[in-house]
Amino acid sequence: PSILKEKANFGIGAAIKTAHLAELAYANTVKSHFSQVTAEWEMKMELIWSSATGYNWSNADRVVDFAKDNDLEVHGHTLVWYKSFPGWFKNAGYDSTAFEDRVRAYIQTTVGRYKGRVKSWDVANEIFNDNGTLRSTDCPVFATFNDPIGFYGRCFKYAHEADPDAKLFYNDYSVVLASAKRSAIKRMVSRFKNEGIPIHGIGDQFHYRVTTDKNTIKNGLTDMASTGLLIHLSELDIIVNVQQSESYAFTQAEAQKQADMYRFIVESYESLPADQKFAITTWGVTDKYTWLTDYWHAKEYPLLFDQHYQEKEAYRGFLAGL
Ligand code: XIL
Repeated sequence: PSILKEKANFGIGAAIKTAHLAELAYANTVKSHFSQVTAEWEMKMELIWSSATGYNWSNADRVVDFAKDNDLEVHGHTLVWYKSFPGWFKNAGYDSTAFEDRVRAYIQTTVGRYKGRVKSWDVANEIFNDNGTLRSTDCPVFATFNDPIGFYGRCFKYAHEADPDAKLFYNDYSVVLASAKRSAIKRMVSRFKNEGIPIHGIGDQFHYRVTTDKNTIKNGLTDMASTGLLIHLSELDIIVNVQQSESYAFTQAEAQKQADMYRFIVESYESLPADQKFAITTWGVTDKYTWLTDYWHAKEYPLLFDQHYQEKEAYRGFLAGL
C-alpha cells in the first residue's frame, strides 16, 4: 500500500481544526490518508467549559461528527492541562474540595457526552518539568493541592467511570529526550498501578527537529515502552529551520533530511511491541496551517503535505518507515 493508514498496523492521526474543514482539499486529505483525528484546539477545557453554568459543544461536536461521517477514530485532547483552565475558573478562588468537584463534573460530562465516540483521552497534559519536578508556574492544580499527582490520579478514575472502554493517556513533551521527566512519569505510572488507577498509555508529543539525536529518540521510546503501556507519538512535527532564519529555503536537500528523520522515527516506533503501538498523530495536516507559524511565528515546513496538499518527501519517509 502507498497510503499511510492502509500500510500501518496502528492509528495514523492528524490534529485538525474545524475552521479548515470547509476546504475540500483539507478534508479530503484527512479522509484519504489518516485513520484518526485529534482536535488541535477545540476539545480543550477553556473552549468547551465556557462558563460556570454552561458548556459549548459546537466545535467539539463538529470534530466528532466529521470523524463519524468518515470512519475516523477520535483521540480526545485534553481534559486537564494547566494552560487551558478557563479564566472564570481560575478567578473563582476555589478551595481544593470545590476545585475537584468542579473538575470531576467537567470530566464526567465531557467524557460521558462522547462515550463510545471518543475512544481515547489525554487525561492530563504536561504536569512535569524536564528535570522531573512537578510544574508549578501558572499551574492551578499545583497551587491548590498538596499532592497534585493524587489529584491527577483521581481525574483518571473520573474519566474511567464516565467511559470504562476509553483508553486513558498521560501526555507530555520531550519524554524521550528528558530522562528525568521520563523517570518521573514512570514513577507516576507505578504509583497509579499500585493504587489501581486506570492508565492505559503515555503520549510523547514529538515536536522535534531534523537535528534531534536519533539514539536518544530510540532509547527513550524503548524506555517508555518498559512501562508496558500503549505508546502514542501524539503531536509529531519536525522542525527544519533550526536557526529560525527569515531567509531559510526549504530545498530538496532539506526536504530529504526531514524525510530521513520521519523515517527514523516511524522505524523506531515500529520496533516497539505490537500490542503497545497505539498511533502516530501529526500535529496538523499541511504546511499551510501549522502551529509553528500561527503560534510561534516561525518560517516552517513541519508536516507531511505541502501547502498545495501534495505529498512531501516527509510523507514518503513516513511510509518507508512502516
Ligand atoms: C497548541 C495548538 O496547536 C495551537 O493551535 C493552540 O493555539 C495552542 O495549543 N502541546 C499541546 C498542544 O499539548 O495542545 C498544543 O497545541 C501544542 C503543545
